Parts: sequence; C-alpha cells; structure tokens
Amino acid sequence: MSDISLSPAAAAQSLVSVRNLSKLYGGEKRFLGGNAPILKAVNDVSFDIAPGETLGLVGESGSGKSTTGRILLQLEAPSGGDILFKGQNITGLSKSLLKPYRRDMQIIFQDPYASLNPRMTVGEFVAEPLDVHGLSGNRSERQDRVAGLFKKVSLDPSFMKRYPHEFSGGQRQRVNIARAIALDPAFIVADEPITALDVSIQAQIVNLFQDLRDELGLTYLFIAHDLSMIRYLCHRVAVMLRGRIVEIGPCEAIFANPQHPYTQALLSAIPVPDPDIERSRKPITFDVGTNLPSETAQLQPLGGGHFVLRS
Ligand SMILES: Nc1ncnc2c1ncn2[C@@H]1O[C@H](COP(=O)(O)OP(=O)(O)OP(=O)(O)O)[C@@H](O)[C@H]1O
Ligand SMILES: [Mg+2]
Repeated sequence: MSDISLSPAAAAQSLVSVRNLSKLYGGEKRFLGGNAPILKAVNDVSFDIAPGETLGLVGESGSGKSTTGRILLQLEAPSGGDILFKGQNITGLSKSLLKPYRRDMQIIFQDPYASLNPRMTVGEFVAEPLDVHGLSGNRSERQDRVAGLFKKVSLDPSFMKRYPHEFSGGQRQRVNIARAIALDPAFIVADEPITALDVSIQAQIVNLFQDLRDELGLTYLFIAHDLSMIRYLCHRVAVMLRGRIVEIGPCEAIFANPQHPYTQALLSAIPVPDPDIERSRKPITFDVGTNLPSETAQLQPLGGGHFVLRS
C-alpha cells in the first residue's frame, strides 16, 4: 500500500475503510446534577483494509481496539465519522438495509465459551446464521452444510450433536470460527481470538486463521496483544493509544523502524529468543501521562504506507 492510503481513492479500492471515526462515552446527566465525564474511547480514527489483507490492531488495555471493531461492524453507532464497505458508505443504515452487509462482516470474540450457547448443540449453533438468512436448504442439505463447515475448521462432523461444555477451549474457538464463516463473509473482525487459549493451542488457531484467509480469500481486522502473532499473521499493523492511532504501516516497516515512542516501547517489551540478545535487551518505558497525543496531531506519511502521529 502506498501513501494514497487514507485518501478517497484508497477508500474506493479498499474492502473496508473508516474515516474520522469517533466514539464518546459518558456525558449523560447525573441524578445529583452535572454531567458524567466524557471519555473519547475512539478519537478520529481512519484506516483502509484492502481485499485479502490482514490489519493488526494493538495497544494497551482500554485504548479503544474493541470499540473500533464493534463500530466497524455497526454493533454500536459511532459518535462521528464514516464506515465504508466496498466503497459504499454504510454508516447508520437501517436494520433492513444493513442485512446484506451483516452477512459479509462477522466477528469472533476473545472468550470462546461466552460466545456459545450452552443449551444448544454446536451443530445447531453453527447452522443458526444459515437459518436466519434462509440458506439452510432441506434437512439433509443443512446437515451437509454444517458438516462442511466443521471440516473447514478441522473439527470432526460427528461432534455436531455435542454441547459446548464437552469441548476444549481451542475446539470451542473452532466452533465460533465455523459459525463466523457460515455465510461466506468477506471480512472478519477477530477481537483477541487467541488470548484466552492455552499457549500450546494459540499457534494452531492462528494457523487456522491463515489457512482460511488463503482458502476463502478473507480479509481480517485482527486485534491482539501478542505482537509476535501480529507479525506472523498480519500484513500491516495499527498501534492505538487512548483512542487514537499513533502509528500504522506495513509490519516490516513498523517492526524494523518504529517511529512513535509508544510503538518503540511496545516492541522493546517483546522477549527475544536469543539468550545473548535477550540478556542485553532494555525495555523502553513510555509514560502515557506526559506523552498523550495532542488533539491537533495528525498522521504524517513517512513513505511506503507508513504513517506516524505527529503534532
Ligand atoms: N459501553 C461502554 N460504556 C462506557 N465506556 C465504555 C464502554 N465500552 C468501552 N468503554 C470504555 O472505552 C475505552 C475503550 O474500551 P475498549 O474495550 O475499546 O478497549 P480495548 O482496547 O479493547 O481494551 P482491552 O485490551 O482491555 O480489550 C475504555 O476506557 C472502556 O472502559
Ligand atoms: Mg478489547
């Protein structure tokens, strides 16, 4: 991606774009007078995601990553800004006008157990979106479709009749992924999909995301804490701090040459597998209190699609 990213032309060529997205919480009238403080959970966020691309989103807890993902999928309304899908502005569309887009855009959450319905067999859970969109066909077609989805996520179709509690964390996340791909979406927001899993299972699920991307041509917004996973899976990465994107660009550029002090601090915290280098690694500290991005700061292009927030 070149420096035309964040331009109107980039939005037209992208699968998903957001422009000047913001989300404010609070501000409501208090019972005893005055207003609750306003929190800018997402503050003037813009980015593009090209078809087939995976954009990683990282940042400290509370930086606005999940809120960005939820607004992008219109699970919550933004306070300002626009969401474009295949060049069409879909911000604030009514439920019925949004329905075709809902098929194309799915989300996978961090806690695979909380997403599942404990009283529903996992087969029924995966079939549900097909039923809602009238795509299940007759009984045997429905069965075949669900079996096909189970195979795509490497689950034995004979597990269809089982309940969520009978599965391991990794298997449950596979069930969630099967449901997310049931409607053949183009875009998936994966919100920390591996964070709750055993370390030994995490790589398998990341590999599944990668295989499905290649097989189905999926585009992802991949929210994660683990920068080594981001580096492995993502083409580009965006770094969020207190509701703002402070740096965005191709993974190679950001990992080799981080420009924002917050990105530098994040990267310096990754352990290095070489004991000699690891011994001399000095984590860089970043004091958010004295380094908050100023309201007037803008993303400045550094070339090659690499941008950093500067006043
Ligand atoms: N429904 C809500 N009402 C009020 N404040 C909210 C709401 N949802 C999120 N927030 C606040 O908005 C900020 C951003 O939250 P968000 O969940 O997007 O962060 P995050 O980057 O996903 O963090 P984490 O890494 O912990 O998941 C936080 O300060 C959070 O407390
Ligand atoms: Mg979150």
